Amino acid sequence: MERATREILDTLAKTISTPIEEARNLPAQAYLSEELFELERERIFRREWLCVGREEQVANPGDYLAFDLVGEPIVVVRDAGGSLHALSNVCRHRYMQLVEGTGKTDKFVCPYHGWTYQLDGSLAGAPHMNESRIFDRRSCRLPEFRVETWNGFLFVNLDPDAKPLALAQEAASERLATLRLGEMCIAASIDQVWDGNWKLGFENGTETYHVPVLHPGNLGAFLDFGSVEGGGGVGSWVFQGILMDALADHDPEMLDVIQRAGEIMTEEDSKRLRGYNMFPCLVMDSLPGNCGWICFLPIDATHTRVIGGVLTLPSDLEAGGEEFRRNQHGYIDPIVAEDSLATTNLQPGLRSRYAAPGPMSHVEGALLHFHRYLARKLT
Ligand code: FES
Ligand SMILES: [Fe+2]
Repeated sequence: MERATREILDTLAKTISTPIEEARNLPAQAYLSEELFELERERIFRREWLCVGREEQVANPGDYLAFDLVGEPIVVVRDAGGSLHALSNVCRHRYMQLVEGTGKTDKFVCPYHGWTYQLDGSLAGAPHMNESRIFDRRSCRLPEFRVETWNGFLFVNLDPDAKPLALAQEAASERLATLRLGEMCIAASIDQVWDGNWKLGFENGTETYHVPVLHPGNLGAFLDFGSVEGGGGVGSWVFQGILMDALADHDPEMLDVIQRAGEIMTEEDSKRLRGYNMFPCLVMDSLPGNCGWICFLPIDATHTRVIGGVLTLPSDLEAGGEEFRRNQHGYIDPIVAEDSLATTNLQPGLRSRYAAPGPMSHVEGALLHFHRYLARKLT
């Protein structure tokens, strides 16, 4: 192991016993090192439950969603019986990817030589293979990974021995119950690639310190940053709450949504934006009747695929139609653009010879919790 990587791991190990008043940001190398990224891929991304989208994207038999999960081509598909499968998207003949993006099909036909697979991954046909003495049709199938759903989110785990998703979510399920996330539908989606390490995106989505400065025209305009509470963590989660003191002036439509959803909320709950962040990569900012979510899936050490969007209750979506959808994009797009720019603009600074990790603010406690999670997984 390189000396620089060992130093990062030592720094991470110290976060376990460091109080926030003495905590620093991570060294710049933690966001650049290829070797650290390999370790993260092995010990985090090949073992943890990773959010890859919404169940709504594969609602009906034959619907599929293909993506690259930390270097592994995967397709999630619903079979004719209604069961979900997460299959390797790599043909067993000579490595061709079977499908791209989203679509609907009754079989996967390899676009190279035409081998064909059922939606459960078993082989349906392979032309001109009858003379091969080593080809066993019955055992030939696409490797399958774990897939589960939780509150309408799709999760995949590359580790066959991982604990069930429900156990990983135990800490959050009760807190999130009143948000009705499982009933919610996609009102707006984003799918982008950001220049920067995945941790920069996740940290940005986890700390609220930047919000009044980086987002003065949207989130910063209606959240009261004197009121940040939480930042504590349970298991793989951190929770935060911020009072929305000026939402009525800033966004009356959003206030409407909240009031309609508010019938099932306590008054206290309806006054706060709730941040629910699940390590390693899912960020949710929830208001009653509205959830902005974003997930950071690493491509390599310095590029990250960013998926997410806005979820709302189906009744709001039906009543509001296209205009409501446009407004949801109007809400999330500027926020995401500002956050993306912040991550991208850190790149030259990280490479500076004079870059040094500064101290953390007491309002960044959620980050310390994240660094301790990294320490537990990597050291
Ligand atoms: S690579 Fe798929 S059939 Fe040849
Ligand atoms: Fe932000």
